[in-house]
Order: sequence, then C-alpha cells, then structure tokens
Amino acid sequence: MPEIKKNWYKEMSVYQIWTRSFCDGDGDGIGDLKGVLSKLDYIKSLGVDAIWFSPIYKSPQKDYGYDISDYRQIAPEYGTMDDFKAILDGAHERGLKVIMDLVINHTSDQHEWFKESLKGEDNPYHDYYIWRKGKGKNPPNNWKSTFPGPAWEYNADLDKYYLHLFAVEQCDLNMDNPAVRNEVKDIMRFWLDMGVDGFREDVITYISKREGLPNGFPLPVACGMEHFTCGPHLYEYLQEFNDEVLSKYDIMTVGEAPMMTPDLALKFIDERDSKKQVLKMMFNFQHMEADCIITSFITTKFSLKKLKSAMSNWQTKLYGKGWNALYLENHDQPRIISRYGNEKYRVESGKMLATMYICQSGTPFIYQGQEIGMTNIRLPELDMYVDVATYDTYNICKKLGFPHKSIMKRIMKASRDNARTPVQWTSGKNAGFTTADKPWFYINDNYTEVNVEDAEKDPNSILNYYRKLLKFRKENEIVIYGDFKEHYHESDKLYVYERNYEGKKLLVICSFSDRIERFKAPKGFDLAKGKVVLGNYDCFNSGFDTFNLRPYETKVFLFE
Ligand code: GLC
Repeated sequence: MPEIKKNWYKEMSVYQIWTRSFCDGDGDGIGDLKGVLSKLDYIKSLGVDAIWFSPIYKSPQKDYGYDISDYRQIAPEYGTMDDFKAILDGAHERGLKVIMDLVINHTSDQHEWFKESLKGEDNPYHDYYIWRKGKGKNPPNNWKSTFPGPAWEYNADLDKYYLHLFAVEQCDLNMDNPAVRNEVKDIMRFWLDMGVDGFREDVITYISKREGLPNGFPLPVACGMEHFTCGPHLYEYLQEFNDEVLSKYDIMTVGEAPMMTPDLALKFIDERDSKKQVLKMMFNFQHMEADCIITSFITTKFSLKKLKSAMSNWQTKLYGKGWNALYLENHDQPRIISRYGNEKYRVESGKMLATMYICQSGTPFIYQGQEIGMTNIRLPELDMYVDVATYDTYNICKKLGFPHKSIMKRIMKASRDNARTPVQWTSGKNAGFTTADKPWFYINDNYTEVNVEDAEKDPNSILNYYRKLLKFRKENEIVIYGDFKEHYHESDKLYVYERNYEGKKLLVICSFSDRIERFKAPKGFDLAKGKVVLGNYDCFNSGFDTFNLRPYETKVFLFE
C-alpha cells in the first residue's frame, strides 16, 4: 500500500461563502461581511476548519465578483478592509482558516490596467491583455467564450480585438508578459502577508494560451479549448508562483480545473516530489457531468454509473500520489439534491449525498445552504435571472433555433442562479436573510420548511447530520487517510465502497434509488462484526449480511 503523507490541509473541511447571498448585516438587502461576521460561530459549529470566500473584491459585479476591478480592495457593498480583517481575526480566533478566491485569468474591463491598455500600443499596460488584429473582417481566430458567444471583442479606436474567455467585461490577462506575472505575485503576497491561509485559483488551467492562437476544432461552446486549457506554459507559470511566493507560506491551494483528468492532474499536484508540486489539489468537473455534457445546460438523464466512474477513478488514481478536492455544490452548480438526489426525499437524499462524498479520500468543500439541504428555485421567466452565463446561453440557444419554452426548461434546471438564492436562516420574513423590505434576489419558497433555525432544533435534520459526519471524519483517520476500493461497480442503484487504514475498515453503502433495494455484503465482509457508525434512517446493525435499503438510504459500517 502506498505511504500516505499527513498534512493539515488534508484533514480539514471547507465551507464556501458566496457573500452576496449569505447574510445581510446592514439591512440593504445584499449579503455582506458584517453578515458573515455574525455567523462565524454558526460556521464553526458545523465542524469545518476553513472558509473559502468567492471573490469579495471591488467589482462591477457583471459576473458577481469574478470580474475584479481592484485586487486590493473590498467591494463597498460587502464592506471595508476593516470588516474583512475582523473576519480574519474572528476566524483565526476560532481556529478557522480563511481562503481567498484568486481570479487571475482575467480582470474586469473596469480595472485600471484595462483602462490604460485601451490607450494604445505605446501604453505599458497594453500588453497586459491579449490584443490582436482581426483577419479581414473576422476576429483573430474562431475561439468561443465559455459563456456562449465569440471570445473576441472589437475595439474600433484601436482597430483590434481583445480576448475574453468569459463575459465581454472579463478581459483575459496576457500571462506571457512577465510584468503581469509579477503583478500576480504581488497580489498573492498582499493577501498572504495579511494572514490569509490560501487560495482557490479560478480557472487556473486557462492562463496560458498556445502561441499563435491557432483556430480551434469548431464547436459551438468553448471552441479553442484545446489551445487554452493546460496551455504550453501553464506548469512553468504555476511553478514560478509557487517557487517565488506560495512555497514560502504554510498555506493550501486549490486550482479550478475544467476538463481535468486524474492523470493530467498529477502533473500539478503530485505530492511525492515537493519541488514539482505546484498546487495542493484541483477541483475537477468529471463527477459534475453525471446529468449533463460539458456544461450543466446540455442536460442528460442522471447516470449513477457515470458518477461512480468519475469519482472512483479520481480516488484510485490519486491515492498516495496526490490529494482530492471533494465537492458536490458551489456557486456554479445547481443544488445537488435537485440533481443527483430527489426533492421528494430531500432529507434522506441530502444526507446520503453528503455521506457519499465526504467519506471519500480528499478535502471536502461544503457550499452555503448545502448543509441545510437547499434546493433549486427554478425561476420561470427569463427576466427573473441575473447570471450572465444564463443570458449568454439563452441567446445562443435562440440563435440555434430552439423555442423559448424548451430553453427555459433547460435554464430552470441548469442556471447557476439556482445556487445563488439567499441562505434560508429562519421561517420568518425574508427567511431571516435581510431586514430590508426586499432581498437583492428571490428567496426559495420552501424557506418556511427549509431553514437553519428549524434545522437546529431537529436532531434528525440534514444540518445536524453534516455535523455528525464531519465530526466522525475528524475523529477517524480512516476517513481521511484510508485507501479506496469500489464494489458493485455495475449497479445503477447503489454506490458501495470500502476504505482501509491501519488494520481498520470502513464500508460505505449509498442507495440512489427511490425504491427498496436489496443489499448483500461484498465478499469478505461479515457485517455482524462491524458497527454502524452513520446512517440516515437509523444506525442499527441487524447482524445480517443481506438486508433491504430504503429509498436513498445510506449506512456506514466500521470494522476495528
Ligand atoms: C469560474 C468561477 C465562475 C466564473 C468563471 C469566470 O468558473 O467559478 O463563477 O464565472 O470562473 O471567472
């Protein structure tokens, strides 16, 4: 069995905050840092060890913070730098680390660098971005943005185009320019010297584009990605950031990595040679494609086999070599109960899904509201949405000739806005999110039933289950450091796996079915000898090796 290195970032779990919808502390309808400060005890009570903030920097909010106009200032609608420092201190006092989102693939078009860049080729900032002449009347190449549409925007004054792999207002930085890389290193130092404990690096695998920017294989979405995903200098730039800055601090880093495979990931996260490791872990997307293809908008029927193949592959390929980042939700993904679970069995499936991923090997990330089992809102009209990617997708689908009704059906299922509704704190006015008359965005109607206050009082709530699960993980090294072996891979109803560590064994059983399913212990297991340590119906051990699993039932056996 490969030796597994111990490390604090492997033992922790992380709570993600998307501030705008977390908690409003000043009564203007928008979530803010004062709101976060007021909830630090709540966050600590979950049993997590760190907070990851989606971007809270100054931003025109075209992509809700992922379009940064000043990397060293807090967005005024969220508060001040003093508010942030109070959170940093308050978190550290409670033993919570703070991780910042680092968005360096692009800046806002309102960033000073871009404004200078527009002044012409002689301006030193011009080359901070990727400007090119068109080809006749056409853009420099056929690349498409990730938010559907062309990846180039024409500027008549300069008679040139700039590259944007996301919204028009998110201009790609030219990472080949050493001055840009120096800026990035300075930004990193600024936050690390203030005391933050790491970075989540936004679309980090996009920062190096192939020389000559050749045409991509013609695709309607993300065309050109073979030339901008894991580009020729990516590793070199990450190594530079690591050698010159990151390695000098005891921090964690997690890179967001679309299209990533475990084999490729090891190039960046291989922990067997600390000189070569440039990131501690990566967010991959393969397990988020069990009900869609590439983007959540191209929807397919949920396939448990696809989910298991993706997750188990990362588990086995990385064990002893690299570390997994485990997640089912974030600000880009619709709510998981509405996708891989079942709203009719909200509590059961919410707990089962939590068990399924948190009992795997890796650092678990939990997105705000996930811990109380929030579900998709499914807004019916297009003008109710605020997410730029949702509108871009609508426009492309319309151009491709899809009828309005069918596009809306997709959007209701797949829009990122499903994950961005205010956190439901109470069953009172505005779900306790704000004292303003109106919150900045729609609140899911189910707040009278799904909210933190009620969940606190109910020992069987999803919230209290998360607490139990995270506590169990913390107290049992097998969950953190154990190896991974899957059983019944062919089953399209059950996900069953075992973990092994220092002579102990864990058997994790998860049913994805809304019916009764018969379960038989895998060969070599004598269930009577195990103890049921977690379960979403009961923690009862019948002693039998064969039994019925109820809808979305999960049961975890520990053998010591
Ligand atoms: C990442 C973020 C997403 C953002 C995009 C562009 O995927 O998670 O929210 O829109 O990058 O920055």
